[in-house]
Amino acid sequence: MRVVLVVTGLLIVIMGAWWWANTPRTPKALYEARCSACHALADLSRRQSGELVAIIETMRHRNGAASVISETEAEEIIEYLKGVKSP
Ligand code: HEC
Repeated sequence: MRVVLVVTGLLIVIMGAWWWANTPRTPKALYEARCSACHALADLSRRQSGELVAIIETMRHRNGAASVISETEAEEIIEYLKGVKSP
C-alpha cells in the first residue's frame, strides 16, 4: 500500500517538473513555442499591428492553431509582436 502511495507521489512530482520545464514563461518563449508548431517562425517585424492581429486570427480560426494557442496566449503573442516591430 505504501509503495503505491510513494510511486503515485513520485509520478505527480515528475509530471509537475515536466510541466514546469515545458511552460513558456516569457512572451518571446510563448511566441516561439506556439508559432513554430506547424511551420518555421515567420519574420513579422515589418508587418503593421493590424496585420499581426489578422495573421494570428487566421492561424487560429482558419489554419487550426486554436487547438494549440488559446485566446489569452494569442493576445500575449500579439502584444509581444507589436513590441518587436521595427519602426
Ligand atoms: C495549427 C498550425 C499552425 C500554427 C500553430 C501556426 N500557423 Fe501559421 N500557418 C499555418 C498554415 C496551415 C499556414 C498556411 C500555409 C502557408 O501559407 O504556408 C500558415 C501560414 C502562416 C504565415 C504566412 C501567411 C501570410 O499571411 O503571410 C504566417 C506569417 C504565419 N503562418 C504566422 C504564424 C504565427 C505568428 C503563428 C503563431 C501565432 C502561427 N503562424 C501559428 C499553420 C499554423
